[in-house]
Amino acid sequence: MSVQTSHKLGDIAADFASRLLGWYDRSARVLPWRVPPGSDAVPDPYRVWMAEIMLQQTTVAAVIAYFQKFTARWPTVRDLAAAEDADVMAAWAGLGYYARARNLLACARAVVSEHGGLFPDSEAGLRALPGVGDYTAASVAAIAFGRPAVVVDANVERVIARHRLILTPLPAAKRAIKGALAPLVPADRPGDFAQALMDLGATICTSRSPACAICPSMDDCRARGRGDLDRIPVKPAKKAKPQRFGVAHWIERDGKIWLVRRPEKGMLGGMRALPGGEWTDTPPSESGVLSVDHGFTHFDLRLSLVRGKGPDAAGEGMWWPISDLDAAGLPTLYRKLTDKMLERVT
Ligand code: ADE
Repeated sequence: MSVQTSHKLGDIAADFASRLLGWYDRSARVLPWRVPPGSDAVPDPYRVWMAEIMLQQTTVAAVIAYFQKFTARWPTVRDLAAAEDADVMAAWAGLGYYARARNLLACARAVVSEHGGLFPDSEAGLRALPGVGDYTAASVAAIAFGRPAVVVDANVERVIARHRLILTPLPAAKRAIKGALAPLVPADRPGDFAQALMDLGATICTSRSPACAICPSMDDCRARGRGDLDRIPVKPAKKAKPQRFGVAHWIERDGKIWLVRRPEKGMLGGMRALPGGEWTDTPPSESGVLSVDHGFTHFDLRLSLVRGKGPDAAGEGMWWPISDLDAAGLPTLYRKLTDKMLERVT
């Protein structure tokens, strides 16, 4: 009996994988870090790893140009390991979640100094690298090294929660989703399987208005036909985001403005910025010439711009030509502020 049951599970898993892979063979998105299905090309672990770091919390559309810029400028892990920190931070500007850029460098340097320039080829080996969490270790192991890892990102979570009708709210549902997915991973094409699920989630099994009629897994999807499909996976109740406030100083002299580098630890750590005080929970007493609103994951910030006389003698920084601000690598928050200021001035 138990033999028969496991046989059946095996068949279901094989059917699911083969339908999904068949669809992927026809419909895979063409992406610059990817080896097309069916090609003999071998994926480059460096490119796979870089893409997975960039794709954390960031959309494919936003990542493509950054991925191309980084791999053109630093084509191998050795090139990246030898890069200047400031150049990498500036090149990352606009992509957000800047701890990823610091970890990217730390990881490249660890791969060179501790692994002879070759990425470890197992999930556990990858997991030990700086900035590589469970998800990234699994995805790089599967995509770059063909390991049968269980890869669960938000797209995969949605596909599996629907297919298996897992109604536990996130994040508790993650365990059940991983458990449901593990027996479905095919030993022969785990990397394509992971990316097929990602593509299915991104293009057919979308959050809103999924295109079930053209889904390769529609016949055995337990959620199909439900009116509340767009509420699966069930999200946790949202907490209101706190509002915070900050002041930035516009200190201008001879066509240049004074820029500083933010402390390594904390928000936008290591990035260039306009000088300013700590962010607080109460509005500033000074009224600025203008302000911008910016949403971070855990709070909203209103940053006001004040004309300053500075620079503060104690603070380290540099005069940067206003005409070349693009090259300063300011994160989006400060770009919004300088763009608005320059619009006002010109
Ligand atoms: N999101 C995260 N990793 C991805 C990948 N390898 N392809 C497409 N989307 C992704």
